[in-house]
Amino acid sequence: MAPSASPARRSSSCGGGIALLLLLVLMAAGTSSAQLSTSFYSSSCPGVYDAVKSVMKSAIASEQRMGASIVRLFFHDCFVQLGGPNWDVKVGRRDSTTASFSGANNNIPPPTSGLANLTSLFAAQGLSQKDMVALSGAHTIGQARCTNFRAHVYNDTNIDGTFARTRQSGCPRTSGSGDNNLAPLDLQTPTIFENNYYKNLVCKKGLLHSDQELFNGGATDAQVQSYTSSQSTFFSDFVTGMIKMGDITPLTGSNGQIRKNCRRVN
Ligand SMILES: *[C@@H]1O[C@H](CO)[C@@H](O)[C@H](O)[C@H]1NC(C)=O
Ligand SMILES: *[C@@H]1O[C@H](CO)[C@@H](O)[C@H](O)[C@H]1NC(C)=O
Repeated sequence: MAPSASPARRSSSCGGGIALLLLLVLMAAGTSSAQLSTSFYSSSCPGVYDAVKSVMKSAIASEQRMGASIVRLFFHDCFVQLGGPNWDVKVGRRDSTTASFSGANNNIPPPTSGLANLTSLFAAQGLSQKDMVALSGAHTIGQARCTNFRAHVYNDTNIDGTFARTRQSGCPRTSGSGDNNLAPLDLQTPTIFENNYYKNLVCKKGLLHSDQELFNGGATDAQVQSYTSSQSTFFSDFVTGMIKMGDITPLTGSNGQIRKNCRRVN
């Protein structure tokens, strides 16, 4: 997993309709029990899932990247509901009163990471190597910036030659030029959530160095291979991973706060 949107997008990923939506969701919190659950709003806001779903549907209809942005947002913190696998998202999560720039940089694996580093950064969050491989499948949608795949498409050897040249054409070799040019993480179906991400890896068409590490002669090859032939296994492992990820030290009860503006502490 690695940055798939620009830093500017990162700080604004809670913006616009989603901020409003999260605010609505968070303000409905009222009294709170001390853990996340799928029934947290069943009496205070019984229509919350339908409301969130309809706002998300229209957001994705007007900007397809929104789907990937929301998955990424969940990865980096918040909430989700889209095509592909479906599950009941546990809610009741409160907002942090702090944010850590160094924490964000040190805990999120960079796109240059090797398999061992990817595995250890996920392990540090209580996620297994299997979860890591399944969650990486979120790269079936979304895009990455040239600066994050340049070294892979110019210098790595575990990449399909034709694919490398295609991606080089939109990403100048010299750092500083075209850094923000985007390319889809899944070259086949960049806006559809399925298992093509893994099919690409088996053909050495992973966009990020960290993507191709999952199928590079190591311990995770078999899992990648299995997802190419069973999308349902991928979906089921992805959901398991997303639920585990959502349970990473959430703020509940009276911890944290309910932000009035989701971009800043009250
Ligand atoms: C990445 O791996 C290198 C070499 O194995 C190690 O020195 C480094 O601490 C690792 N970084 C992270 C963030 O795990
Ligand atoms: C490729 O590797 C060479 C030698 O290490 C390095 O000088 C160059 O900056 C790298 N190019 C890219 C695009 O990463």
